[in-house]
Amino acid sequence: MKQIAIFASGAGSNATKIIEHFAALKKNSDAAGTIALIVCNKPDAGVLKVAAANQVPALVIEKEKFFRGNAYIDELNAANIDFIVLAGFLWKIPDTLIKAFHRKMINIHPALLPKYGGKGMYGQFVHEAVITNKDKESGITIHYVDEVYDHGQIILQATCLVADDDTAATLANKVQALEHRHFPAAVALLATL
Ligand code: GAR
Repeated sequence: MKQIAIFASGAGSNATKIIEHFAALKKNSDAAGTIALIVCNKPDAGVLKVAAANQVPALVIEKEKFFRGNAYIDELNAANIDFIVLAGFLWKIPDTLIKAFHRKMINIHPALLPKYGGKGMYGQFVHEAVITNKDKESGITIHYVDEVYDHGQIILQATCLVADDDTAATLANKVQALEHRHFPAAVALLATL
């Protein structure tokens, strides 16, 4: 059984979907992993309520220790974490942690990488850029995490059309629907590897 940690900084809608998916798999004795830990850098983030509501232990992390200390590797090891899912986690992952979880850490990005990736490209900013550029399609990218922001090997992309009258907000809804449809199943599949 893989022990999976979800790192998130925001509302936690993807974390919710992943937790629900693994709970459903567990009911059918079909789960290859457990969502064992939620890691969050914002004490007031919605994802911490998601953790509490689903009885998943949570770890609130601090900048200094994450970037200049051991990047919480000791704590992750103590919880036997062997796979990390970034679901709206907005701090760059330190190289030490990336090395410790080589090919065992994935991220979801709300656009079709390599377009609209990199520092500052998250959430609404991504969708605004897509609308401004009048792109005809957008979507999601699930990828392994490497030392370069939004760069690691792509595992899965799914697309949606951008209509002429779409706004950043309506596009965000389309992209979020894709995330919720594909991310939990992708995590479950990767947990079997
Ligand atoms: C998701 O849309 C995810 O793709 C995005 O943050 C959102 C988190 O939503 N991540 C990035 O932009 C990373 N660059 P959630 O908290 O509701 O799951």
